[in-house]
Amino acid sequence: MTTFAALAPDSDLVRGLYIVAFVLFIVGVRQGTHPTTAKRGNLLAAVGMAVAVATTLALDGIGNWELIIAAIVVGTAVGAVASIRVQMTAMPQMVALYNGVGGGAVALIAWSEFREELHLIDDGTIAEIPLEIFVPVLFAMVVGSVSFWGSLIAFGKLQDLIPTQPVKVPGQQLINAVLLVGIVAACIYLGINNDDPDQGIFIAVLIAAAILGNLVVLPIGGADMPVVISLLNAFTGLSAAAAGFSLDNVALIVAGTLVGSSGTILTMEMATAMNRSVANILFAGFGGAPAGGAAAGGEERPHRSIGAQDAAISLAYADSVVIVPGYGLAVAQAQHAVKEMADELEKRGVTVNYAIHPVAGRMPGHMNVLLAEADVPYDKLREMDEINPEMPRTDVAVVIGANDVTNPAAKNDPDSPIAGMPIIEVNEAQQVIVIKRSLSPGFAGIDNDLFYEDNTSMLFSDAKAAAQEIAGEVEDL
Ligand code: TAP
Repeated sequence: MTTFAALAPDSDLVRGLYIVAFVLFIVGVRQGTHPTTAKRGNLLAAVGMAVAVATTLALDGIGNWELIIAAIVVGTAVGAVASIRVQMTAMPQMVALYNGVGGGAVALIAWSEFREELHLIDDGTIAEIPLEIFVPVLFAMVVGSVSFWGSLIAFGKLQDLIPTQPVKVPGQQLINAVLLVGIVAACIYLGINNDDPDQGIFIAVLIAAAILGNLVVLPIGGADMPVVISLLNAFTGLSAAAAGFSLDNVALIVAGTLVGSSGTILTMEMATAMNRSVANILFAGFGGAPAGGAAAGGEERPHRSIGAQDAAISLAYADSVVIVPGYGLAVAQAQHAVKEMADELEKRGVTVNYAIHPVAGRMPGHMNVLLAEADVPYDKLREMDEINPEMPRTDVAVVIGANDVTNPAAKNDPDSPIAGMPIIEVNEAQQVIVIKRSLSPGFAGIDNDLFYEDNTSMLFSDAKAAAQEIAGEVEDL
């Protein structure tokens, strides 16, 4: 093994470089909160990570360069290809996979650190593994392993490799509880016997944590996966911070804590936007088989449908139009066509705004990113709380590929699975045009009462084709 003697870990230079990296992380995250600065923020955080990695690789005692270089080459190649090829709509599963890899890496680091400490006991260098190292190692191993396996299941569900419906196994929560208690008890046993810890028990805990990660995420419905991924992301951050304590690496502690805290905040924000608790998301088995009306494949409820030409006439003669984008807009990649349609309407003096629901699409900020890509001005993107009071004064609300986030059942039906979720109140507008391909339900798997209201017209079409057609019709009027 080649070893380059270089920077001492506690030197001022190393501390200074790590502080530069942390500042870049924090400024990067801050800039990520607004679409105008988000790209720069991403770049700054990436530069910060490069500084942290380069500094760590320059530390005294770092060796195994063949493996390190091979890992950097493979990681860079996979990351670069994925960032170019993966579609925006597949971003949640990509995040799940990357997050899982992070958790798995932490669990393996913890195992390797444990073996290193065992070796030190065996050759008489130390008498026992100090608890300030052993406790973080155990925490990192358990949480990293849960995060790795949980993220893989989340990836499988989002990628349709495994059924997305909640899988309910009788006694599931009892099994999880027994596993959790067993893991904690085994960790305490290992900690008490820190002068001669049994590697077999350590591996058994690693396997039990892996089973727990699978069993916790399997029963959760696909609709809740983005929240689960965000939660597992927070777990990975915390486990990385714990690994940082055991390795005495301040960069890992700070980066892990940042990921842990931002992941926790994001999880809470998403849960609030759906008016559900995190416990409900984890244990309620939400998002089951489609229910009710057209969703169940039962008798179709009466509704009104229109074509692009009639929609164009309604829109062109309106004073104010609010566009409500959703997941279908992302699938259809309709953002440019929708911008063209809005431009045509604005040319005729129509005021056009966009209503952004916090959980529209499949990841936080999904709609903002898509519309920013089509150069929609940021001041036209109006948040739900801001736009809802304006709905009764809106002539036409055009729902494009959105469904759950407009479902009035969330407000009117206390028994609805999405009861209490705040919605864009399009049903309050004078007229509603819903552009989607059919009456099928959205991600929550429930029928949408909006489709059957008197002031709603359904335009059954792909979002991009419909927007292009309407833009053409408005131009010709
Ligand atoms: P959804 O309720 O999922 O509805 C999307 C609709 O798009 C579908 O009903 C589908 O209907 C339509 N669609 C699909 N492809 C289309 C195409 N090519 N052209 C036109 N329409 C198309 O979407 P939403 O309203 O954005 O709601 C998001 C859901 O995800 C919510 O349930 C939310 O709770 C959940 N969720 C989101 C997040 C985040 S952070 N965004 C996190 C957790 C959960 P057709 O098949 O009939 O076309």
